[in-house]
Amino acid sequence: MASYLVLLGPPGAGKGTQAKRLSRELHLPQVSSGDIFREHLEAGTELGEAAREYIDRGQLVPDDVTVAMIRERLSQPDCTQGAILDGFPRTMAQVEGLDDMLAEMGASLDAVIHVQVPLEELIRRLTGRLVCRAEGHIYHRDFNPPEEPGICDIDGSELYTRDDDKEETVRKRINVYKEQTAPLIEHYEQRGILVRVNGAQPVEEVTEELISVVQKKA
Ligand code: AP5
Repeated sequence: MASYLVLLGPPGAGKGTQAKRLSRELHLPQVSSGDIFREHLEAGTELGEAAREYIDRGQLVPDDVTVAMIRERLSQPDCTQGAILDGFPRTMAQVEGLDDMLAEMGASLDAVIHVQVPLEELIRRLTGRLVCRAEGHIYHRDFNPPEEPGICDIDGSELYTRDDDKEETVRKRINVYKEQTAPLIEHYEQRGILVRVNGAQPVEEVTEELISVVQKKA
């Protein structure tokens, strides 16, 4: 049976880190709205150019653009058995967009997992983050450094700092999360599909907790 999961949480909670690990464990694709936007930015597409001004300011890209992009991604063959949604939905309009998409596919959400991390930890994590240019593998200068500085352990590509990881932009992104995305927690709680996971543990322990949550839901 298809399995659709959402990882919900503030910037820096570890959604991308955990989505990649879960994707390997559960054999489901990671669908990251942020990664797809960054691919478009890199490729210089029209969508990337439209998204750039919002991403650089730490604001959300408009719902119609974001929902259309995820609709296109979820219609691809590798998503028919499910997907791990990382960073989508983030507004009530996106919640409705996702419900419509899944209903059209005859599917539903299995669980929305809220990855909880204290605010001061988020800033430390994001301002030290390094990302690999080729595949988006995620590192941290202090918490998860690469073996060779500036080089991805997995594919040997260059590591870079995201433009939106400057402290000023990080603070804006956290505020946007509080205003526009945090209300989704209560929404999904009322629907009975919200699960909380402690994201402030070491990476491996967060993954173990996530897998145990998913197995209980299966
Ligand atoms: P996006 O790329 O989705 O950014 P985000 O949600 O702000 O999340 P992050 O990627 O910053 O953090 P994360 O939770 O994935 O943490 P990570 O695993 O990397 O979005 C970027 C922009 O795109 C948005 O601002 C917006 O403009 C636009 N956008 C995206 N989706 C959108 C949508 N749906 N609607 C509208 N606009 C949208 O980890 C962070 C760091 O912490 C890393 O260095 C990692 O190594 C470290 N770390 C992770 N886990 C641990 C741990 N357990 N212990 C110690 N360190 C850890």
